[in-house]
Amino acid sequence: MGIVLRVLLVEDSTDDARLLVRQLTSAGYDVQHERVDSPGAMRDALNRASWDLVISDYSLPGFSGTDALNLLQQQGIDVPLIFVSGTVGEDVAVAAMKAGASDYILKDNLKRLIPAMERELRDAEMRRERRRAHETVSERELAVGIERRRAEQELRQSEERFSRVFRASPAGIAITTAGEGRFVDVNDAFCALTGYARGEVVGRTTAELGFVQDLGEQADLLEQLRKVGTLQNVDLEVRTKRGDRRFVLASFERIELGGRPCLLSVMHDISERKRLEDQLRQAQKMEAIGRLAGGVAHDFNNLLSVIIGYCDLLFRTLPADAPQRGEIAEIRDAADAASGLTRQLLAFSRRQVVERRVLDLNAVVTRAERLLRRLVGDDIELVVRLAPALAPIQADAGQLDQVLVNLVVNARDAMPAGGTIVIETAPAVLDAAYAQAHPGARAGEYVSVSVSDDGVGMDADTQAHIFEPFFTTKAVGRGTGLGLATVYGIVKQSEAFIWVESARAQGTTFRVYFPPAAAGAVPAPLPRAVPASLAGSETVLVVEDSPQLRELMQEVLQVRGYRVLDAENGDAALEVARRHEGPIHLLLTDVIMPGMNGRQLADRLSAVRPDMQVLFASGYTADVLAQYGVEGGMHYLQKPFTPDALARTVREILSGPRD
Ligand SMILES: Nc1ncnc2c1ncn2[C@@H]1O[C@H](COP(=O)(O)OP(=O)(O)OP(=O)(O)O)[C@@H](O)[C@H]1O
Ligand SMILES: [Mg+2]
Repeated sequence: MGIVLRVLLVEDSTDDARLLVRQLTSAGYDVQHERVDSPGAMRDALNRASWDLVISDYSLPGFSGTDALNLLQQQGIDVPLIFVSGTVGEDVAVAAMKAGASDYILKDNLKRLIPAMERELRDAEMRRERRRAHETVSERELAVGIERRRAEQELRQSEERFSRVFRASPAGIAITTAGEGRFVDVNDAFCALTGYARGEVVGRTTAELGFVQDLGEQADLLEQLRKVGTLQNVDLEVRTKRGDRRFVLASFERIELGGRPCLLSVMHDISERKRLEDQLRQAQKMEAIGRLAGGVAHDFNNLLSVIIGYCDLLFRTLPADAPQRGEIAEIRDAADAASGLTRQLLAFSRRQVVERRVLDLNAVVTRAERLLRRLVGDDIELVVRLAPALAPIQADAGQLDQVLVNLVVNARDAMPAGGTIVIETAPAVLDAAYAQAHPGARAGEYVSVSVSDDGVGMDADTQAHIFEPFFTTKAVGRGTGLGLATVYGIVKQSEAFIWVESARAQGTTFRVYFPPAAAGAVPAPLPRAVPASLAGSETVLVVEDSPQLRELMQEVLQVRGYRVLDAENGDAALEVARRHEGPIHLLLTDVIMPGMNGRQLADRLSAVRPDMQVLFASGYTADVLAQYGVEGGMHYLQKPFTPDALARTVREILSGPRD
């Protein structure tokens, strides 16, 4: 079987058609043919099947070779068409070729048909091949195009996904240029962390925003990054828009963005965690200092007892005119002062002996109010606000006085130019969130007392140390730094909780939260501040070199109605007495003082004020005092004394028979 050749014959003569087919068959082709002789039939044949070759007569009745050619072209069918005709001149042949015929063969020269046809078939095949190649190329191009579009779409989706991740990440993320640190983009968490809106940051540099606190540190970081390209978990302090400090744990990565070297920074806000850690450390430190201070104070107190004991012994054994007496008195006074310090340290370390009773906090504040008013002086207003119907608490009344006095004195000192101190009592409920944020606090109901001032305030660094013993910002001699340490110890011992809120130039509030006493507990009545029977209106001159004690004596007497003059030593007392025009009913004086002693002072004053009574107060034993001329028969008050004992003794002397 030869090659199948499908031939469409446009020919009105069946004989001619047969001749042609025979010609082809003889060349070895397996010819499948159809003969048409009208445009309709040809169109039909073209639509029905595909053809390898069209052989057309040049002129047919009602049809022509050129019509056939046109039909092929109209239908866009690329099949070679060869004219086979008997009667044409050259001009017709040329016109036919021009019109697009593949070849022109005369019927009497049919031997040309086979080579011409084979050439045309080859050409047609080549054209088809080329077309196919073209088609596959453009198909591939199409496929590539689709692929690219899909990739682009995926990229877009992925970008969208990443942009969503970037925006929604709980970690603050910033992209900055590597060189000058100019913000390229930041996410929402970064904005939340720093307080800036995205638009306020993008385009500006970290330096312009003052974003990093420590510029030296920033330079170091950048240098390291240049070397290693990445840094993990760096502790960094940054400044927010409002100027607050925030602590972040940051990681950095050098990345290339649009051909530019950039820095990707990822930050976690650890301020809260750091704050809690700091507070825990602080609490542990206080605990440790407390143990240390308590231990030292306890042993030290014992040593002081020995020092004081031997001083007294020396006084007893030394002759009355021994020159060392003054020096020993100094030692004894210093030892007394030291005992005062150790007492405060013991309070801080919670080793004070306390008498916890059910108390009404309002009553405690009210009782202390007069003393506090005197402490603050005239240029400071003291406002007391008591919440009605407060639950009772359990504490030592004397210790509460100490707390109030220390807080109020500190508030006073924080307002050198005057101001207002508010003492306020209130019920309070601390919730779990508060307790978590305030180490040492437990959630629950409390009764609170606060002391607020509008003074100089404290920065965070100062606040971190205020409860430590001997921490003071006051000038040497102005503060020992034991006030708040004492308060702290008392608060702890009362199972209470203290918190301070303060900022530079914003004033300070200390608030102490006491747990309420057991349900149904009834507050014990406080000892009345002013027993009527111990009141008086006479004038008393108090001479005492310890300012605290002098203040206390003054207070005790003033509260009971006495008029009090005071002086820190004998010479000052003489001066005060000289200037005072009214009577002085009683001289209440220390015995052993620098300079003139109590007995000498009494003698000199009595000489000009013979009606004046004298009361000696001292911590020394009678036999030591005897050497200073203070002996039996004279009025004498043993130090330390309670306010009550002082008031009673003064009243007894002034009411008693003159001696
Ligand atoms: N209300 C306040 N306002 C501002 N600063 C305060 C206030 N209370 C305390 N401080 C600061 O705390 C420090 C410690 O106070 P603390 O009472 O322990 O000692 P002090 O007052 O310095 O000395 P002391 O109370 O022993 O005489 C003070 O020196 C001061 O810097
Ligand atoms: Mg103080």
